[in-house]
Amino acid sequence: MHNLMITGGAGFIGSNFVRYMLEKYPDYHVVVYDKLTYAGNLDNLKDVAERFADRYAFARGDICDASTVRETIRERNVDTIINFAAETHVDRSIMSPDAFIQTDVYGTYVLLEAARELGLERYHQVSTDEVYGHVPEGASQEADPVAPRSPYAASKASGDLMVNAYHVTYGLQVTISRGANNIGPYQYPEKVVPLFVTNAIDDLPLPLYGDGLQVRDYHYVLDHCEAIDLVLHEGKLGDIYNIGTGSEMRNVDMTHLILELLGKPETLIQPVRDRPGHDRRYALDVTKIRGLGWEPAHSCEDAIREAVRWYVENEWWWRPIKSGERYQEYYKRQYEGREVE
Ligand code: NAD
Ligand code: TYD
Repeated sequence: MHNLMITGGAGFIGSNFVRYMLEKYPDYHVVVYDKLTYAGNLDNLKDVAERFADRYAFARGDICDASTVRETIRERNVDTIINFAAETHVDRSIMSPDAFIQTDVYGTYVLLEAARELGLERYHQVSTDEVYGHVPEGASQEADPVAPRSPYAASKASGDLMVNAYHVTYGLQVTISRGANNIGPYQYPEKVVPLFVTNAIDDLPLPLYGDGLQVRDYHYVLDHCEAIDLVLHEGKLGDIYNIGTGSEMRNVDMTHLILELLGKPETLIQPVRDRPGHDRRYALDVTKIRGLGWEPAHSCEDAIREAVRWYVENEWWWRPIKSGERYQEYYKRQYEGREVE
């Protein structure tokens, strides 16, 4: 396992993972294979391209395009695929599910088929806690049935099922990890934490969905990267591993913490109409990954603190995104006229 193809490596978690792996393993080579959708951004890998020019390469391509996937694998002598590539935002999946089915389901199949045909050593699928659906009490364990409720979650769950099928049917050496809500550097400012932090910096309203009592496990992205690395090297083939802090936080408390850290008033909170089918609670049982000797270094509060600090210090990264026409159009479509009192 030395020549990694990291699909979706120009996105949020993928770019953090690329940096983490190149820093940690001086003999690994990485090719990032990424379509560069609205969420993909080569600025996320700018320092990587400079620091690791001899071991890092970028290939622009769609995971649904079987011939370019194969070409890249052959050219770079790839032995391992780690698949981060996906459409990832629940709200966008509600507005237009098509790209989610294409990339998260069909694209996953294309990668699996290439891995099987070309005899790759290993395939790792990066998945999400959302596949378990709303969890009213207790915490989801890896053996629990999937019960996705949004088009995003349904497409990710389908991808996971296909990964398992390739393991059982063809003996492909796979692992799957299911992460909680990641936050930290380079997260596209459509997801709630970077959206709220950057809005608050500019004294813009923070659109809080519904009653704000939904619960998430806000997890620091580099802790997630460390755990994926562990699953890759020490996980049991064919197995699933949940990754999160194993604790939980209400959205309203996350929002207050952000405002407090930035010294901004609570009057910035703007209640808005809830997301249709909104999963009120996700909660992961992380006993299994802990069994591999892993512990999250950051609590939800620490993770929010780190994220706030990064967005305060890195306006160069998010200002061009937020002022762009594509983002502005999305924001208007998503939030205009949605205020409630
Ligand atoms: P992101 O939206 O920031 O990045 C996704 C990346 O995939 C982008 O670089 C994009 O250009 C690329 N991509 C999209 N469609 C593609 C295609 N057809 N072909 C090639 N590249 C394509 O996503 P993220 O938040 O970094 O999430 C990465 C992975 O982790 C996803 O699989 C997601 O489901 C999973 N995940 C995310 C979270 C989270 O909290 N963000 C939590 C758990 C799991
Ligand atoms: P999000 O970051 O979209 O992640 P996910 O829905 O995949 O967990 O949203 C996290 C939580 O924040 C979720 O409960 C929805 C809520 N939320 C808001 O209250 N306002 C917003 O503008 C957004 C984007 C999300």
